[in-house]
Amino acid sequence: MTRIFSGVKPTGHLTLGNYLGAVRRWVEVDQYRADALFSVVDLHALTVEHDPGRVRRLSRQAASLLLAAGLDPERCTLFVQSHVDEHARLSYLLECTATDGEMRRMIQYKEKAAQERARGGSVRLSLLTYPVLMAADILAYDTDEVPVGDDQAQHVELTRDLAVRFNQRYGHTFTVPKATHPGVAARVMDLQDPASKMGKSGDGGAGVVFLLDEPDVVRRKVMRAVTDSGVDVVYDREERPGLANLLEVLAACRGDGCDPAELAGGYSSYGDLKRDVVDGVVELLRPLRKRHAELVADPAFVDGVLRDGAARARAVARPVVDRAYQAVGLLPAG
Ligand code: TYM
Repeated sequence: MTRIFSGVKPTGHLTLGNYLGAVRRWVEVDQYRADALFSVVDLHALTVEHDPGRVRRLSRQAASLLLAAGLDPERCTLFVQSHVDEHARLSYLLECTATDGEMRRMIQYKEKAAQERARGGSVRLSLLTYPVLMAADILAYDTDEVPVGDDQAQHVELTRDLAVRFNQRYGHTFTVPKATHPGVAARVMDLQDPASKMGKSGDGGAGVVFLLDEPDVVRRKVMRAVTDSGVDVVYDREERPGLANLLEVLAACRGDGCDPAELAGGYSSYGDLKRDVVDGVVELLRPLRKRHAELVADPAFVDGVLRDGAARARAVARPVVDRAYQAVGLLPAG
């Protein structure tokens, strides 16, 4: 059976980008067709300056939101990364496989390190090694497929390179995974800055729709979205990125096979399009927000899911990581 692994990091409130780029497919497709594991990858939240209490709260919130979105603990495994030691254990072996040069080439590292320096802060070493931990997350589970948004493509490519290199050096140990991306909305852009990805840790959030935003807030953010100069509604990612983003979001809300270029033909004004985007997003998020409120009232349920999930995840990862330790030449503990 196909094995799927993916994760979300608790560095901020989950966004519409997270949902359309990744979570929605986990819920609607992946958990039904594969042996699927999904993780709140909390260790990754420590790579930039963080507040311990906030990381704790956001980790619980992310888990609740994934359940609210429809992950079914009977069908998939949901767990918190730091509850399973194998991730950190394998990460070190992969640090011994990766090179300094390939780490420094990672786009997200370059961007985030530059931002950190511009703020006068220091760059944590873990920001550089982050993609290795991500590779460990994936390889520890003999993963075949990694459903992610476009922004993670380079990290999954690196994971493949590390798996192949390790296998060549030490004999076949890891499954070589591949990334899968959604047909539309694989990179949802910030509504205020269509040149940047809609990200959970962005400043202010005026261009970011969070999954828990009230309908009025969604309305305000979408209606104020930056569109391009021009009056006609056409789908052109290069020349009209703001408009293309709205069309993609609407196509994703409409679901199966809806094509943003075709949608564009049905509109003669930006206002009508924006109003439909508001309705589409509000309706998409309504059931999720309702279910999330119920789950918040039942923390014991969420804790139980995470406990069982971690036990299942450990049972899968342990033998894989043991295999890697032996392959690389470390003496078995006996
Ligand atoms: P993270 O937490 O930034 O995002 C979680 C998922 O949401 C997708 N995503 C988006 N998709 C479309 N448009 C957007 N604006 C957008 N923003 C985020 C991401 O592509 C991702 O699929 N490094 C990962 C977390 C991670 C991981 C892993 C993922 C750690 N280990 C192992 C897969 C497998 C990250 O920062 O995701």
